Amino acid sequence: MTQSPAHDPKTFRVKSYGCQMNVYDGERIGELLGARGMTAAGDGEDADLVVLNTCHIREKAAEKVYSDIGRQRRDDGTTPIIAVAGCVAQAEGGEIARRAPSVGVVVGPQAYHRLPELVARAARGETAVDTDMPAISKFDHLPRRPVQPRPSAFLSIQEGCDKFCTYCVVPYTRGAEISRPFGDIVEEARALVEGGAREITLLGQNVNAWTGDDERGHGQGLDGLIRALDALPGLARIRYMTSHPNDMTQGLIDAHRDVPSLMPYLHLPVQSGSTRILKAMNRSHSRESYLEIIERARVARPDIAISGDFIVGFPGETDQDFEDTLSIVRETRYAAAFSFKYSPRPGTPAAEMDDQIAPEVMDERLQRLQALLAQQSQAFNAASVGRTCAIMLERTGRKPGQLIGKSPWLQSVHLDGTGLAIGDLVEVELVSAGPNSLAGRELRKVAA
Ligand code: SAH
Ligand code: SF4
Ligand code: F3S
Repeated sequence: MTQSPAHDPKTFRVKSYGCQMNVYDGERIGELLGARGMTAAGDGEDADLVVLNTCHIREKAAEKVYSDIGRQRRDDGTTPIIAVAGCVAQAEGGEIARRAPSVGVVVGPQAYHRLPELVARAARGETAVDTDMPAISKFDHLPRRPVQPRPSAFLSIQEGCDKFCTYCVVPYTRGAEISRPFGDIVEEARALVEGGAREITLLGQNVNAWTGDDERGHGQGLDGLIRALDALPGLARIRYMTSHPNDMTQGLIDAHRDVPSLMPYLHLPVQSGSTRILKAMNRSHSRESYLEIIERARVARPDIAISGDFIVGFPGETDQDFEDTLSIVRETRYAAAFSFKYSPRPGTPAAEMDDQIAPEVMDERLQRLQALLAQQSQAFNAASVGRTCAIMLERTGRKPGQLIGKSPWLQSVHLDGTGLAIGDLVEVELVSAGPNSLAGRELRKVAA
């Protein structure tokens, strides 16, 4: 395939798949290219460089990359410079360029600060591959974040995973757990707030494993960091995800009771309700210890919304194990959840286990689980009707004049936006609930 233009790309497009950490990385990749004088291509415009920031978590997600690479070919038969970044890049490395020769750059999630140099090599006709996991964090090499107005911003504070759940690729694609330094995070948060962010979501594959030393040299956990960020003037809301049950300290649970800007929402994946399966998954928590954390979280913050992730059809999962998953869902009462069919991933221990579950069994289990979870999120929304709460407006709705924002419990709430703007915090009464969102009635503007 012909690459065009052969050198000096001036415009770019970044497409991110997968988790919110990839969304964050995608933003920083855009900022990095912008700092090198490139501009983002507009909607529908051809870009000289296309960065596909990929996800390897399940087979389907990973396969998407190859169809997307194919779609980059333009009507005249040329292609842009294609850079594959993210977790597929890390997992498959140079193999991607062999399978899809139009790919000019392969760059892993810990090496993307080197993207401009790699793109320059690709522009000279080389295939540039960099899947290093350097000891010095990429964050030390990225440009300062430019001021960009956005009411809600992501901020990665922790990367990688040492947990090695037997089904999961993340420890291999993202590397070992590292925590960004306290001062760097506070500084980035301050810059985001100065740029207009009113809400920050702290991100990490194991965000609650974050540790660091504060400005006085005292060791802190995530709760200490949250308390420091709560003191930033102008920051109204703090969220964090994703947490692992084993790193759920009492300090963090208490922060849900004490810190006004910490939203009453906890994403705490359990994966399965069967302690036997949890052992085989190497989750290092049990059904009971998970339920006990949920109970403590509800004592600290009675209205806290709980969300989770589930895998059905893990190797060896019996009907009884699956019933245990349904029953932990009933006991926990989730406000929201993600559920997946187990997908065997190359190089993970579970892919080699006996007793892989038949696809039709997985389908049936997933349907039953999703029906129950949908029922629960509808019940959660219905129970919110009549409540008064603050909504942070994030985007326009489909109907003219409508604005959509998030409740403290992360529900989408739409309301008549007359006299209001994106970024406003508005106190509303929740007046009705649909399956995916609620309607709110403005009571007063809390802050503009
Ligand atoms: N660090 C987080 C989430 C990581 S990936 C945690 O520990 O919970 C996001 C979700 O993808 C996981 O919670 C899990 O439910 C799902 N997942 C990961 N690997 C999977 C696999 N091989 N098959 C199906 N789902 C998977
Ligand atoms: Fe994957 Fe488990 Fe690590 Fe989560 S804790 S990223 S599921 S290995
Ligand atoms: Fe996917 Fe990598 Fe995130 S595998 S879920 S993009 S950490």
